[in-house]
Amino acid sequence: MNKILVWDWPVRLGHWLMVGSFIVAWLTAESETWRLVHAGAGAIVIAVALFRLPWGFIGSRYARFVDFVRGPRAVAGYLGSLLTLQPAHHTGHNPAGGWAIVALLGLGILCGVSGWATYNEFGGHWLEELHEGLAATMLTVVIVHVAGVVSGSLLHGENMVRAMFSGYKLGAPEEGIRSARPLAAVALLAWVGVAGWWLAS
Ligand code: HEM
Repeated sequence: MNKILVWDWPVRLGHWLMVGSFIVAWLTAESETWRLVHAGAGAIVIAVALFRLPWGFIGSRYARFVDFVRGPRAVAGYLGSLLTLQPAHHTGHNPAGGWAIVALLGLGILCGVSGWATYNEFGGHWLEELHEGLAATMLTVVIVHVAGVVSGSLLHGENMVRAMFSGYKLGAPEEGIRSARPLAAVALLAWVGVAGWWLAS
């Protein structure tokens, strides 16, 4: 087993930007004083999720949707292997976690856009209700996601959170990606700056 690069820079940077903005958005949700910060955090969630969609097609091996969006049989097989307490190991996202990721990206966009429309007074009370419902659903998926990450880390004896920071895991040398794509992360930051500013203004 070698130390291999699994997560490229855009995946890692995008992930922690989403985590930070999601937390800020929750903490500022009820306050009029912090409304602009709340809108800014929501705008970052939308911008990161929108960047992640094309990156799921052109990004590095484990960032691609084809690597982790799998059919019901693969998901059931993985969940079944959890019951044996020796789950099948996946270098990238596992088939169950993959669907949580799709849900988080989709909910990030839907929740963000409904919040943006509410902020700009495009809809009535129903839109605000929808935004709050989507936010609550997203929180539920986040809790399931974090529980999956913690249990996966314990069952595999692999610190998945540290890997999401460093990009590295242990694996066979041929499984690693060659480049961390740092320039794409600069593009992500520029996009988040421009799109975030535009959406929140
Ligand atoms: C402190 C809380 C969190 C921790 C510790 C955490 C940790 C992780 C880890 C370790 C992975 C990689 C899973 C794997 O190896 O398959 C991951 C992926 C992911 N997480 Fe989280 N997460 C947290 C919160 C969130 C939140 C709040 C969101 C969304 C609002 C989120 C969205 C995602 C997405 C979209 C991915 C896929 C990354 C990609 O492929 O681009 N996470 N998370």
